[in-house]
Formats: sequence, C-alpha cells, structure tokens
Amino acid sequence: MKQLIQDIDILNEKENACETVKTSLEQDTGQHKKMYIESYGCQMNFADSEVVTAIMQENGFDTTATPEKAQVIFLNTCAIRDNAEQKIRHRLKHLNAMKKHKPALLIGVLGCMAERLKKKFLEEEKVVDIVAGPDAYRDLPKLVAEAEDGAKAINVFLSREETYADINPVRLNSNGVTAFVSITRGCDNMCSFCVVPFTRGRERSRSPYSILKECQDLFEKGYREVTLLGQNVDSYFWTEREDIISLKQYQKAVAQQDLADLEKVNFAQLLEKVALISPELRIRFSTSHPKDITDEVLYTMKKYENVCKYIHLPVQSGNSRVLTLMNRTYDRDWYLNRIEAIRRILGEECGISSDMIAGFCSETEAEHQDTLSLMDIVQYDFSYMFYYSERPGTLAHKKLTDDIPVAIKKRRLNEIIQRQKELSLKRNQMAVGQTYKVLIEGFSKRSDAFLQGRNTQNKVIIFPKGTHQKGEYVHVKVHDYTAATLFGEVVN
Ligand code: SAH
Ligand code: SF4
Ligand code: F3S
Repeated sequence: MKQLIQDIDILNEKENACETVKTSLEQDTGQHKKMYIESYGCQMNFADSEVVTAIMQENGFDTTATPEKAQVIFLNTCAIRDNAEQKIRHRLKHLNAMKKHKPALLIGVLGCMAERLKKKFLEEEKVVDIVAGPDAYRDLPKLVAEAEDGAKAINVFLSREETYADINPVRLNSNGVTAFVSITRGCDNMCSFCVVPFTRGRERSRSPYSILKECQDLFEKGYREVTLLGQNVDSYFWTEREDIISLKQYQKAVAQQDLADLEKVNFAQLLEKVALISPELRIRFSTSHPKDITDEVLYTMKKYENVCKYIHLPVQSGNSRVLTLMNRTYDRDWYLNRIEAIRRILGEECGISSDMIAGFCSETEAEHQDTLSLMDIVQYDFSYMFYYSERPGTLAHKKLTDDIPVAIKKRRLNEIIQRQKELSLKRNQMAVGQTYKVLIEGFSKRSDAFLQGRNTQNKVIIFPKGTHQKGEYVHVKVHDYTAATLFGEVVN
C-alpha cells in the first residue's frame, strides 16, 4: 500500500501540471471519414471538444483515438499563459512532420489560441489549414470542405448568443459516471491579466431547459455526477426573452421598463432544478467568482445533499492593492467575508480551492506575503498556482509593466506551492478516521485491485476493490493520506 501511495502521489502531481487531453474514444458509427481531436486548457475547452465531435459526427466524421488514422486533426487550444501556447506550437511541429508523409491530412486549430491569433495563425504556422474560434464550431463542416478544396479556411466570429444549447455532446474520455455540462459561455469580467474575455467573447447563459435535458439524459444513461461549467457560474442568469441573456442586460432592461413577470432563472435556482433530477445525481460546479457567489447559492448547496460541498473560489492574490490592479473588483476583506459565509453556512468540512498568481505587475515582497497569510487563514484544500504571464491585448499588457523578474516570480510561486502542500497535507490528515460517501469513478490509476472515487469535498479516495464497481456509492473510512489523495476501506 505504501508504494501505491507514493506512486499515486507522483501521478497526481504530474496530472495537475499537465493540461492536455488526448481522445480515448474510438467511434464507429459507419461514417466514411475520421477525425482526431486533442484538447488543451480548461474544462470548458474539453466540453467544447465534445460539442465539436457531435457536430462532426452529424457531418460524416467518426472520432478516432489514433491520429494516424484521421483525415482531419483538431487541436482545441488554450491561450491563458505563454507556455500553453508554446505547447501548441511544439505539437504543430510534430504534426507538420506527419503531414509530410500524408499531404491530404488537414490540421485545424480551434479554441482560444485560434481566436487570439486569428489569421495570423495561418501566416505563422504554414501547416495549419483550418482556424476556428470557440463560437464558430457549427461552421466546421463547411470549413473542412473548403480546406479539402485546397483553401485556407477560417471563422473566428464571436457570437453574443451561441450556447450550442441544442447540440448533444459526444462524450470523449468518458468514465460513464461523471460529465461536464456547460451553462455559460464567455466572460464579461475583464480581469486585467486575463485573455479569456478576448478569446471567448461576451458572457451568455444557456437555457435552463436544455441544461436540464442534458443532465436528465446523462442520469438516464447511468452518469451519477455532472459538473456545471462556466468562467463565472455565479453570474448565470437566464430569462425567457431571447434578447436578455445575462444579468447585466436584465438589469439594464429593468431600469428601462417593468419586467417583473418575466420568467427568469439565476444560478441558485438552476442548481436547485438540477439537484431535483435525482438524489442519486451529484452536482458540482466551477468556477465561482468571489464577487458573485451569494448566500442564496450557499443555502441551496446546504439544502441538497447531492450538491457537493466543494467550492473552487479563485482569489488570485491576498493583497487588496494587487487585487485592484488585477481588476478583480473585490478586496481581501470581501474575499474573507465570503469564506466566512461558506464556513458559517456549510461548515469547516466544505472543500475550498483556489487559483493563485505569483509575481503580478509591481507586486512587492510584503504583498506576496499577504497571499501566503491569506492561504493560512482560508486553509485551502487545493490550489492551481501560476506565475504571471503577460498576455498581449489584455488591460495589464496595455496599462501596467510586467516588472517582476522571472526568477523572483518563480521563487514566490514555489513558496505558494510549498505552503499549499502543507495545507493540503493538514486538511487531508483531518480526514483520517472519518467515513465519507464516495462515488466510484473507476479503477485506481496504478492498480486494478483498487478503485477510486471522490467524496463530496472533491478529494480522491482510493480503496480495495472488493465486490464494488464504478457508478456505485460506497462509504469509505479513511486510514491514510498524502497531500493529493486519501486511502481507506469500504465500511457498511
Ligand atoms: N474564470 C476563472 C479563471 C479562468 S482562467 C476565474 O475567474 O477564476 C484560470 C486561471 O488561470 C485563473 O484563475 C488565473 O489564476 C490563471 N491565469 C489567467 N491568466 C493568467 C496569466 N496571464 N498569467 C498567469 N496565470 C493566469
Ligand atoms: Fe478571466 Fe477574470 Fe473572466 Fe476568470 S473572471 S475568465 S480570470 S476575466
Ligand atoms: Fe485556456 Fe481558453 Fe480555457 S484560454 S483556460 S482554454 S477559456
């Protein structure tokens, strides 16, 4: 068991650092062509790849897990940090070599880097045939046809309405138990460091009817957990009026006329509707924004056992001056007040995680210390941690100076990572002796004699298989831990 624990910890650390997902689905629905898709970046990109697969399947393409078998290769790209883009450039070099042996092969770049670079992509990377932004996926069959005719095909139009609501995603890399469901697209927040508002466009909310239908379908197919996705799920806001698809638009309309009777759904109400599908269906969501997460959401989480007691609430920095420069629109006190509300309403047990950026423009040593002290106060279970990478076109790029030397950024990042490791260990140690309800997701990565699943707080728990299988709920008593994983035995 000890060796297994060590192996798994190394695996988990690697996994967190790596943001590439290669398709494992080998489809054969009788289509005459094959496509291969690789996804980079966030969960929203992975969810989008499932939409792309559905659109392509409707138009003559099956998905293959082997790039060599494909007539079309898509890279669904991320632009969040420079190293994310370097990874894509590196991958394109490799594909270039492949194309030399197979000239008819088409290479399409999708997603955020495609949107950021637009036609520059076609000029810079000769190997690319198709460029499509996140709102242009319905156009892919046409773009592929154009590329087949020898043209360079591009659509990077950003839409105010597109939510792909009517498209039934084809699940890639599915364990058959957990699935992602997009509820909003785009982002209106304009955090000064962030490229997302430029690559994904304006924020819009998907119809609750199509969200509920997708979740209900998943449940009926045997899925037992859905993660509702958006850059800022708390600002989810839908009305029956097709021209009003965000809270901001609604508030503007209210100021102009009386809309009291309009049917409308906010995030807490959506959460409740999904929770009511079945007590056997777990619900998670990501990402929450500190400025928007309301007590109403926290009380809804409390009311339904199947809404998981875990919140990803990225703080970015623990210092109020830096938060102002980041345009996060909250300060340290506001954030800590939200944490206090989570602890008051959902208790110490609720899992909390964060994103942190080290070495943002002009950050002093003392301000960096504020991030570390905030981590101590919150006691995060887990964090995604980065050092600042300037992105062309963002507010920070235009207005601030990226003046912290890389060596210092890296040192500060390491201090943050070290602190998080201590906190994760401490939080996981608290789990020893506790019994948790676990949804089994499949075999542990290291051994088929063990299964793995998560508790409501989103902690991975590994335990001997016994007679259990994926999709089942079991109660597991924890007897060991690392910073990333808990280990236990099933109890009755
Ligand atoms: N919508 C989410 C974040 C999406 S991007 C939110 O508001 O929290 C995921 C994370 O990448 C961010 O939380 C941030 O920590 C990090 N990130 C974004 N832009 C970055 C940049 N330019 N340099 C370093 N990290 C960045
Ligand atoms: Fe980027 Fe901020 Fe929007 Fe998150 S909320 S996607 S960090 S602009
Ligand atoms: Fe990357 Fe775009 Fe997601 S920039 S993090 S793939 S929204």
